[in-house]
Parts: sequence; structure tokens; C-alpha cells
Amino acid sequence: MSGTTSDKEFYKIFSYVSVFIIALAIIIAILSNVFASSVVNDNYDDAREKATEQRLSSSEKINLASNPTFKTEVIEVTSAKSGKDVYNSVCMSCHMSGAAGAPITGKADQWTDRLAKGNDTLYSNAINGIGVMPAKGGLMSLSDDEVKSAVDYMLEQSK
Ligand code: HEC
Repeated sequence: MSGTTSDKEFYKIFSYVSVFIIALAIIIAILSNVFASSVVNDNYDDAREKATEQRLSSSEKINLASNPTFKTEVIEVTSAKSGKDVYNSVCMSCHMSGAAGAPITGKADQWTDRLAKGNDTLYSNAINGIGVMPAKGGLMSLSDDEVKSAVDYMLEQSK
């Protein structure tokens, strides 16, 4: 009899142990899931770091032009300014008042001697600077063509 009882007890204990093992398996499964997702997060961080690096690299800066958010600004910066705009924002400060002996825009007689040098000389002097006048009127970010069109505008206004 006692043998049957201990068999029953054995099955009882065995079922407890089975439940414990199953529970343990579930816990391990949950833990590995958590671990796996933390690995995924690490990968995500890596990817994010990489993307940030790329954003900060100069080649990606140029590619901002393809980003619609930045497109308008980039176009604004890269599109050439008209001669009138360049004149008004850069050249006018000296050439309207004649500051430092600058030939005054609109006074034809102050330009006759200079016009005699030929437009190409006037262009290159405006681009490279002449006497007191700094190269490109001091705004080196202007393109040569922008300076040329500003010269054209000044000459047009000084006829
Ligand atoms: C800081 C004042 C100043 C600014 C700004 C300035 N100029 Fe001048 N510019 C002068 C002076 C001074 C002269 C006369 C220089 C000389 O003959 O020694 C001159 C001369 C010139 C001449 C005649 C050059 C020649 O060969 O006789 C041109 C063309 C000219 N400037 C164009 C421009 C244009 C275009 C800009 C704007 C992009 C500009 N300047 C901005 C001061 C300035």
C-alpha cells in the first residue's frame, strides 16, 4: 500500500516539477525576448548614429538639396542675385555717396574715364578690388558673374 501512496506522491511531485520546468521555460522565453529586443535596440542606436554621421558629413550636406524641406532655402542661396540686388545690398554703401572716392552711380561724368578702360577691366577690378575698394565690394561669397551684373547695373544707371 505504502508503495502505491509513494507512487501517487511521486506523480504529485513529478507534476509539480513539470509545472516548475514549464514555468521556467516560459520565464526563459520571456527573458530571451527582452534580451532580443534590447539587441534590436542596440542595432537601432547604431543605425541612428550612422545616419547622424552621414548627415554631418559634407557629402550629405550637399544632398540636402534633394530634401524638400531644405530645397527652397538652398535654391535661394545658390540662385544668382540680380545686378540690382547685389548693388543695393553690397555696392550702394560706397557708390551712392562716393565714399572713399568711389565713382558715384548715376553721375555719368565720374564714369567716362573708367569706361574708357573697357568693361572687362572694370569687371576684373570690381572682382579683384582696386585702390580702396575691396574685392567684390567686400562680399567674397558673391560669384564673379554676380559682381559683373552689378557692374552692368551700375553702368546702366550711370549713362
Ligand atoms: C568699401 C566701399 C566700396 C564698395 C562696398 C564697393 N566699391 Fe566699387 N569702388 C570703390 C572705390 C573707392 C572705387 C575707386 C577705386 C579707385 O579707382 O582707386 C571703386 C571703383 C569701382 C569700379 C571702377 C573700377 C575701375 O576699374 O575704375 C567698379 C566697376 C566698381 N567699383 C564696382 C563695384 C561693385 C560692383 C561693387 C559691389 C559688388 C562695389 N564696387 C562695391 C569702393 C567700393
